[in-house]
Amino acid sequence: MGATSSFIHHFEKGGEPDVRPLLLLHGTGGDESDLVPLGRMIAPGAPLLSPRGRVLENGMPRFFRRLAEGVFDEQDVHDRAQELADFVVQACARYAISSPIALGYSNGANIAAALLLLRPEVLAGAILLRATVPLSQTPPVDLTDKPILIASGVSDPMIPLEGANRLAAALQQQGALVEHRTLPIGHQLSQADVTLARAWMQAHGRLN
Ligand code: MLT
Repeated sequence: MGATSSFIHHFEKGGEPDVRPLLLLHGTGGDESDLVPLGRMIAPGAPLLSPRGRVLENGMPRFFRRLAEGVFDEQDVHDRAQELADFVVQACARYAISSPIALGYSNGANIAAALLLLRPEVLAGAILLRATVPLSQTPPVDLTDKPILIASGVSDPMIPLEGANRLAAALQQQGALVEHRTLPIGHQLSQADVTLARAWMQAHGRLN
């Protein structure tokens, strides 16, 4: 546990020098320990960098403010994405790790999508579990060949598939290598997410 850039975070070194680090981004009400077991499962031996979201909604940590469920405070999305990107840059230098692949769930997947659109240089790729478009206008950005996995739940009541489809299209339009998979489940994570993400990491998560 540390506080680089005043983000409370968990870091573990991992033991496998060839695997890309993962930036773990939890969902609403989670914290820096939430996705650590998932990170270890999908990328054994990878360094794990896991910040806690700094926005509180009724005491529940998040990565940016929302005005209502599914209605985002877009100025806050911008500001918080910049703040998180600065944290990632500083933490990579401090822990001597390469740029990470984001592994985000729900609100964490949405801030990861915002990082891709606003500060793409800080991420080597992303696994977005239950993500939607975080900004109504997607800025022009160069995502050429950045690998991105999006896993959506077909019956997700919080993240309608249409939002995930729009996100996949926007990222693809900027040159990213997007794989968008739709699972026969809802908002909760399942074994299918683990299997999918692990196979994707084996294909895209090597350093060289
Ligand atoms: C968000 O606010 O980012 C999404 O609605 C998902 C969530 O509830 O965390």
